[in-house]
Amino acid sequence: MTEDILRAENVGKRFGPVTALRDVTLRLGPGEVLGLIGDNGAGKSTLIKTLCGFHRPDSGRILIDGEEVHLRSVGHARSLGIDTVYQDLALVDQLSVYHNMFLNREVVRWPFLRNRAMRRLARQHLEEIGVNIPDVTVEVARLSGGQRQAIAVARSVYSARRILLLDEPLAAMGAKEGAQILNLIADLKARGDIAMILIVHNYAQVLDVCDRVNLLQHGTITFDKPTAETSLDELTDLVVAEYRRGRLNPGVR
Ligand SMILES: Nc1ncnc2c1ncn2[C@@H]1O[C@H](COP(=O)(O)OP(=O)(O)O)[C@@H](O)[C@H]1O
Ligand SMILES: [Mg+2]
Repeated sequence: MTEDILRAENVGKRFGPVTALRDVTLRLGPGEVLGLIGDNGAGKSTLIKTLCGFHRPDSGRILIDGEEVHLRSVGHARSLGIDTVYQDLALVDQLSVYHNMFLNREVVRWPFLRNRAMRRLARQHLEEIGVNIPDVTVEVARLSGGQRQAIAVARSVYSARRILLLDEPLAAMGAKEGAQILNLIADLKARGDIAMILIVHNYAQVLDVCDRVNLLQHGTITFDKPTAETSLDELTDLVVAEYRRGRLNPGVR
């Protein structure tokens, strides 16, 4: 058996009275794309933020290449090869598209890069992935939700080295923009050297691009199967059953 590139073992995370994650055990193989699905509030973003060094887990452990790591910060996780596209994006509204593309990355990867080169590279990257942003010098505050999302994904895709965590990268997008981003993820997967965890709500898309799917319910992983062994019907049934339980027992978590 090949070694998992990333593992969470029995991870728990609470926010005051709210238990966001309980006893989460998750594995990600080298080059694997894992789809993470679950209702709003299930704990998906908390799990991503725990794996990328933003939150410290209250219990359990995180392992990279089989070695336990204590992630001190997002920067520390990034230095170990974990890059993230956050649900809340983390673009700086007042900065231009191209500045955002290289934010927190210019110093690390391109120490001598000048503005003109950054503008050219930003244009080139966005063009390559088929994202149409006419002017990379405009502030991102002036762009649509879909365009902002595309920039956030593009910059992580170009800097990702080993593990890329994507929290709802298609959320603000129309069908066409979404398809472009999914193509980008498929291209990255075809390279074979980057493992990904992808949170997407559309199960057809999950089955399309992911190798395996995990369902998170009330902070616990309740389902783990290769996508080849599940179906749209099975995934939909799981969620319908959860909805029915919620209707019968409102307020019970
Ligand atoms: N920083 C936080 N402080 C307090 N509660 C939080 C925080 N982040 C998440 N939560 C709570 O944890 C639970 C899981 O949230 P989240 O991980 O955002 O779910 P999901 O991404 O699956 O919608 C929710 O009840 C949410 O309100
Ligand atoms: Mg979320």
